[in-house]
Parts: sequence; C-alpha cells; structure tokens
Amino acid sequence: MPIAEVRQAVMPTGRSVLVTGGAGFIGSHVVDELLHRECSVTVVDDLSTGRLTNLAPEADFHCMDLADPDLHRLLRDRRPELVVHLAAQTSVSRSVKEPRADAIANILGTINLLNACVEAGARQVVFTASGGTAYGETQRPATEDSPLQPLSPYGITKLAGEFYLRYFQTQHGLGGVSLRLANVYGRRQDPAGEAGVVAIFTQQMLTGQHPVIFGDGECVRDYVYVGDVVEAVLLALTHPGGGSFNIGTGKGTTVNDLFHVLARLCRFDRPATYGPPRPGDLRYSVLDSSLAARQLGWSASTGLEKGLTLTVDALRQGKV
Ligand SMILES: NC(=O)c1ccc[n+]([C@@H]2O[C@H](COP(=O)([O-])OP(=O)(O)OC[C@H]3O[C@@H](n4cnc5c(N)ncnc54)[C@H](O)[C@@H]3O)[C@@H](O)[C@H]2O)c1
Repeated sequence: MPIAEVRQAVMPTGRSVLVTGGAGFIGSHVVDELLHRECSVTVVDDLSTGRLTNLAPEADFHCMDLADPDLHRLLRDRRPELVVHLAAQTSVSRSVKEPRADAIANILGTINLLNACVEAGARQVVFTASGGTAYGETQRPATEDSPLQPLSPYGITKLAGEFYLRYFQTQHGLGGVSLRLANVYGRRQDPAGEAGVVAIFTQQMLTGQHPVIFGDGECVRDYVYVGDVVEAVLLALTHPGGGSFNIGTGKGTTVNDLFHVLARLCRFDRPATYGPPRPGDLRYSVLDSSLAARQLGWSASTGLEKGLTLTVDALRQGKV
C-alpha cells in the first residue's frame, strides 16, 4: 500500500473527539479534518484568541475556560475517546509580562483537562508543544535528545504540559503524545498575533502596507504547513506508544528569503524595511523530525512554495 494510504488507514474515523482550542488557527483545521472523517467533535475554547467564524458549525461548541471546574461535567457527559489539546496562552511576550496568567492557562488548565480526561475514561491525549521554545538556540536541526533550554515562561509552561502528560500516562494509564511544533503557517492564522510572520507579511503586502523585518533578516526558522500539522495530530491520536516528537520540515529559511517568496506571490514590488532586532529572538531554530517519520510515519509533504501559495491564495480570496 502507498505511504499516503497507510497514513489514511491509521487515522481515526467515526470516533468521539474533544478538541480544546478548536476555534483557533491550528485547532479549527484539526476540527475540519475530524468532521471530514465522520468523527463527532466537541470543542472547548474561551475565544480569547480564537474566533467562531473559524469553526465548522457541525462542531459541538462550548465557550469555556480550560481551568473551569465545569469541564469535568462536560467530559463526563460527552465521554470523548480521543482528545486534542491545543488551547493555550500562546504569546511569548505576554508570558514574560504576566507569567502567572500564562501558568494558570497552560499549567493549571492542562492539569484540569487531564484530570477530567481520566475521570471520563478518555484513551489518548495529543498535546501541541513547542519546538522552538523548548530547545532555544541550536547550531543544527534539534532532535528530541537536544538539551531543553526554555528561555521564556511560555517555553517553561509548554514543557511542563509535556511532563504532566507523561505523569498522567504512568500514573493513570492515560495515553499521551506531545508534538513539538515548528513555526506553523497557513489559512486562518491571526495576522494580529506576534509570531505568525507569514500571516503578518501576507496581510500587509496584500493591503499595500510595508512589512518590517526585525534585525538583519538572517534569523532562520522552520516553517511547516498547517495541513501537515493536522496530519501529524491525527496520526498521533492512534499512536500507541506515547512520547514527544518534533514536527517540522528540517529545512531552515531566513526571514529575508521568506519575504522575497511572499513578495513574489503577493506581487509586492517594494524592498524590505528593516527595524531594530527583537530582544530574545533566536538566530536559528530548525527541527529534525526523523523520529516522527520512524514512529508516527509522518513527514512534512507540503513544500514552502506550495504552502505559501495556498496561504496567499486563500487570503487573497478572503477565505475563512
Ligand atoms: N502556531 C504555531 O506556530 C505553534 C507553534 C508551536 C506550538 N503551538 C501550539 O499549538 C497550539 C495552537 O496554537 P495556534 O497557533 O492555533 O494558536 P491560537 O491562539 O490560534 O489557538 C489557541 C486557541 O486556544 C483558545 N484558548 C486560549 N486559552 C484558553 C483557555 N484558557 N481556555 C480555553 N481556550 C483557550 C484560544 O481562544 C484559541 O482559539 C497552542 O497550544 C500553541 O502553543 C503553535
């Protein structure tokens, strides 16, 4: 059987799934794919950064904070078999200014969810962790064995989520897989966010504004397309072994190169403007995903040119 068909065969179909953060950028794409696979999908999201317009109307939506004690009642009632946990405080700069609020959402919220999962008899949780903030600055693509060196409260709380997942696996038998994502891009990414450089540049170029590159533009990032991330999430939902996996392309792209590709696709003919470097920005962050290839059967299949074309076309057509 071709690899693509093998992947399709192991992804869940017709199951009961809870998606936290399902009204957000990545979460809404995960919901679409699960619904497409005839799963019944419950979504918990407090709409702090997510939008109802992202969310398919077929999803059973609950506007609720992750840390809300009522989450237990909801899970006892819906009894999801599988859980995708994406809801999080995702702003690094907010985590620096308000580490307590970051910890309440990302640590206490995650513990509340995992307790509710155990109580409701869920089988498997997939947690979206962060590769860039887990490994910090590296010289070459980071593997899962690279030293963990989070530099922000956000990096610390996302790693804590991974360790809580492992604890609940050994202590309560709750299956858990953490996916350490690279820089995800695609349709529905909020251009008002701080990290979605593809969304920010694309929107500015298409509306005649002038994007600013912080520093010299030679910072290297690993840009992975949202459709590939959705595939990794679905493969992880049925992976029996647990563990943490890097989800990236293994290829580094400078911000200058990204600007030039986007400028061509958006037909933006002005040169880049440069501003002062942002304190704390890593020079190099790329993920080696060979472990995910061996154990999950996953690798990124959308090249940067194709993924950016899909993203720009969707924004140009005003697709939600
Ligand atoms: N986008 C990336 O490049 C990237 C990279 C690494 C990891 N991640 C992780 O992937 C996940 C999804 O990220 P995204 O880019 O889709 O962000 P997003 O902000 O679009 O999605 C997060 C969603 O969670 C919801 N939410 C936030 N706090 C909540 C709370 N306390 N209770 C209930 N809902 C809450 C928001 O309203 C939003 O819909 C996050 O966990 C993030 O840490 C993303």
